[in-house]
Amino acid sequence: MAGNTLNAARVARNDEFYTQLGDIAKELKYYKPYFKDKVVFCNCDDPYESNFFKYFALNFNAFGLKKLNATCYNGSPIAGDELPLLFDATDEEPKKIAYKVEITEVKDYDGNGAVDLADVQYLIQNDKNVLSLLKGNGSFDSDECKELLKKSDIVVTNPPFSLFREYLAMLEKYEKQFIIIGNTNALTYKETFRMFQQDKIRTGYTNFNVGMFFQVPDNWEKYHHIENGKKIARVSTSCWFTNLPVSKHNEELILYKHYSPNEYPNYANYEAINVQTYTEIPDDYEGIMGVPITFIDKFNPNQFEIIGCCEPAIEIETYKKCSYFKEYKSRQIIHNGVLCQKTYHRLLIRKKLKQ
Ligand SMILES: C[S@@+](CC[C@H](N)C(=O)[O-])C[C@H]1O[C@@H](n2cnc3c(N)ncnc32)[C@H](O)[C@@H]1O
Repeated sequence: MAGNTLNAARVARNDEFYTQLGDIAKELKYYKPYFKDKVVFCNCDDPYESNFFKYFALNFNAFGLKKLNATCYNGSPIAGDELPLLFDATDEEPKKIAYKVEITEVKDYDGNGAVDLADVQYLIQNDKNVLSLLKGNGSFDSDECKELLKKSDIVVTNPPFSLFREYLAMLEKYEKQFIIIGNTNALTYKETFRMFQQDKIRTGYTNFNVGMFFQVPDNWEKYHHIENGKKIARVSTSCWFTNLPVSKHNEELILYKHYSPNEYPNYANYEAINVQTYTEIPDDYEGIMGVPITFIDKFNPNQFEIIGCCEPAIEIETYKKCSYFKEYKSRQIIHNGVLCQKTYHRLLIRKKLKQ
């Protein structure tokens, strides 16, 4: 076992992290009502490999889907692996095939009373379902894929982490509903941050702060463990993002603490006080507060507004008076001639005044 934890997919500069069926099921079960009569598009998904495609094929009838589209990018090292079986192709490099699958009917082909994976394999043979080659490379931003996007209602996938900005910008431009996996660091991207501020994106149901395990290609040397013969890597900074309603973001945080200058020191370089955990947000403070980034997972836009994101610092002598003070010399800076210690990244928030 290599025992590696991948802190961020971007560091590895490799986007081949395949989402496990269990993780998809755990998140998507909450959105079932939103899928009725909808066209779902998985636009970074080789249908033969992607568990997103499998999940929607298996749940096509239970969710009442109108249509399921999936497109496969030809840059993926596994893309089109199984296509020769379908196209009878003699192409020496079947891995470079981009194609799309459009599903409008899923039947219980093996007659066992349930739609299962064996049925999914027969999907394409159904006259109503179409597998066809794409003219281009199957990139989500290609004209062909954008045409499919325009005709879709909800996009659900784990897009390449390295293209997250471009990917989300496209979904916003075409005003699509989405449930996607991304890196928690994406929150600090300017455009993603703006979308959070404008309540156009929120975190999903799965615990935000625990990371996720993904299947990675067989030739990867860095992975966490092997499961059923497959290499599994952990990305500690991945989570779900959506613009569909998520109930926790409508719940008000119960605030029970009272502000005191010793417990909530001012930052030296921002007009705000430091709040060590979101559970300790004082009930009686109306100014700007710096809270850990994990607050975003509890953010209710009716209760708070998000003003900014920064890495502030507290004067060391002030910080020492706080119960949670720990000295980290590597995080110390001089600000206006005074020794200060930086906190970790903070969201700057303010309570909304009750109407
Ligand atoms: C993080 S993986 C996830 C794969 C699959 N969606 C899943 O969750 O199992 C991202 C996938 O997007 C593919 N990809 C990379 N660039 C792409 C692009 N421009 N358009 C579409 N897919 C792309 C990668 O090859 C990779 O297979």
